Amino acid sequence: MSNNVQVVVLGAGCAGLTAALQAHQIGKKVVVFEKMPQIGGNSKRASSGMNACETTTQLKNDIIDSADLFYKETFKAGGKLNDPALLSFFASHTNGAIEWLKQFGVELTDLTTLGAMSRPRAHRPKDTSPVGAYLVNKLYDAVKKSNIPVYTDSKAISLKRTSSNEIQVTLNVEEKQYEVNCQSLILATGGFGASKELIKKYAPQYEDYKTTNQEGSTGDGLKLSQQLDAQLIQLDQVQIHPTVQQDNPHVYLIGETVRGEGAILVNTSGRRFVNELDTRKNVSNAIIAQDTKHAFLILDQKVYQRVKALAFYESIGLVEKAETLDELATKIGIDSDNLQSTITNYNRQIENDSEDEFKRHTELKEINQGPFYGIHIAPAIHYTMGGIHIDDQCHVLDENGDIVPGLLAAGEVTGGLHGNNRVGGNSIAETIVFGRQAGIYACEHIK
Ligand code: SIN
Repeated sequence: MSNNVQVVVLGAGCAGLTAALQAHQIGKKVVVFEKMPQIGGNSKRASSGMNACETTTQLKNDIIDSADLFYKETFKAGGKLNDPALLSFFASHTNGAIEWLKQFGVELTDLTTLGAMSRPRAHRPKDTSPVGAYLVNKLYDAVKKSNIPVYTDSKAISLKRTSSNEIQVTLNVEEKQYEVNCQSLILATGGFGASKELIKKYAPQYEDYKTTNQEGSTGDGLKLSQQLDAQLIQLDQVQIHPTVQQDNPHVYLIGETVRGEGAILVNTSGRRFVNELDTRKNVSNAIIAQDTKHAFLILDQKVYQRVKALAFYESIGLVEKAETLDELATKIGIDSDNLQSTITNYNRQIENDSEDEFKRHTELKEINQGPFYGIHIAPAIHYTMGGIHIDDQCHVLDENGDIVPGLLAAGEVTGGLHGNNRVGGNSIAETIVFGRQAGIYACEHIK
C-alpha cells in the first residue's frame, strides 16, 4: 500500500464502511483501517432496527410520520440535551439514508416500534432478522466490490499534523509501525462502553456493570482526536440498556423489538412495574429500583414469531418456554398467581381499550397465545452518548468551536446527537446519515 492516500477511515463498523463508500463514490482514493481482527464493530450487534421517517415502507403501511415529529420525540427522550443542529439534520435525512442503501441491495421493508416513539419507525429486513449484521454484510460486500482496501488488525496509535498540512497516522500492524499520510481522516472508531477505565472515569455509577459492547469499544478515537486538539463533550452520558441476559459469562442483549412487538416486563413477584416502551433510561432505572435489580420479559407465541432473534436466544438457552403461564412462572421462579392475574388484567385492559396502568401507549398486544416465554434480564452498559464534538457536516471542532482541518468523525465516537438518552434504532441510523456526511465533507476538504 502507498503511504499517501486521499482519505483514511479508522474503524470498519457501519459508520466507517459508509464513509468509505461515499468518499469512493465521489472519486477519492480511500483506505480503511480496523484495529480488530474482524470488521463490524458494535454495529454488527445492533438488533432491532434502523429508525427513519417519511419512508415508502411507512407509507405502504399507512403510517404518517414526519421529520418534525421524529425530532420532537428524540429531543424529549434525550432530556433536551441533544445538539439541535445535529438532530435536525439527522431527523430530516433518514429517508435519504434508506434510499441510498438500496443501491447496495439493502431492503428494510418491515417495521417495528421501539421505546419513546409514537410511530413504527424502526426499519428492519423483511424476515425480522437483526439489522446490524445485515447492514454490515451488505456494506462490506459493496466495499469489496469497489476495491476499497480494508486492513484489519491495524491499530492507529497516533495522529500528527505534517508540515504540508496533511494528517499522518501511525499504525501498529503485527508489532511493526507504519506511517500513512492523508489529506482527510475520518474517525469512525466507536464508543468506549467496553473500557473499564473510561467508564470508571466518566460514569463511575456503572463501574460494576457488564457491557453489551464488543471488546474493541475502548474509546481509542477520543484519545486520537485530542492529539489534533478536538473537543470532547458529554462524556458522562452513558446509556445502560434495560434488557440484557447476563446469567452466563457471555452477555446477550435482548433487542428492544421484543418489547416493541408486545412483550411486558414483570418483577420476581410477577407484577408489572413500568411502561415497557418508555425511554431506556426510565425502564433501566425502574428495573434497578426493584428489590432484586433484575426482571423478566414475558411474551407469547405472537411476539416470538415477529422477532427472528428469539429463536437464536432460545437455541443458546436464554429463554424459558412453557405451555401455560403457571408452568412458565414455576420455571422462571416467580409468583404464579400474581403472574396470571397480571396477564389477565393486562389483556382485559387492552380488550376494553382502557388506559394502561403504566401509561404505555404503543404496541399493547394481548398475551394470550401459547406457548409462553420468559427471559431473565437486567441492565448493562450499552452506549456512550458523549464523544467528539462535530458539526452537522461531521467536521471535528476544537475547544473554540473551530473546524480542525481535514479531521472528520461519525458514529458512536461522536457526541451530542442523543442527549442523555439514546433512542433505540437511532444509532444505526446515525452511522449511515453521518457516515455519508463524513465521506462527503472529507472529499470537499480535498478539493
Ligand atoms: C436494541 O435493539 O435493543 C439494540 C439496538 C440499539 O441500541 O439501537
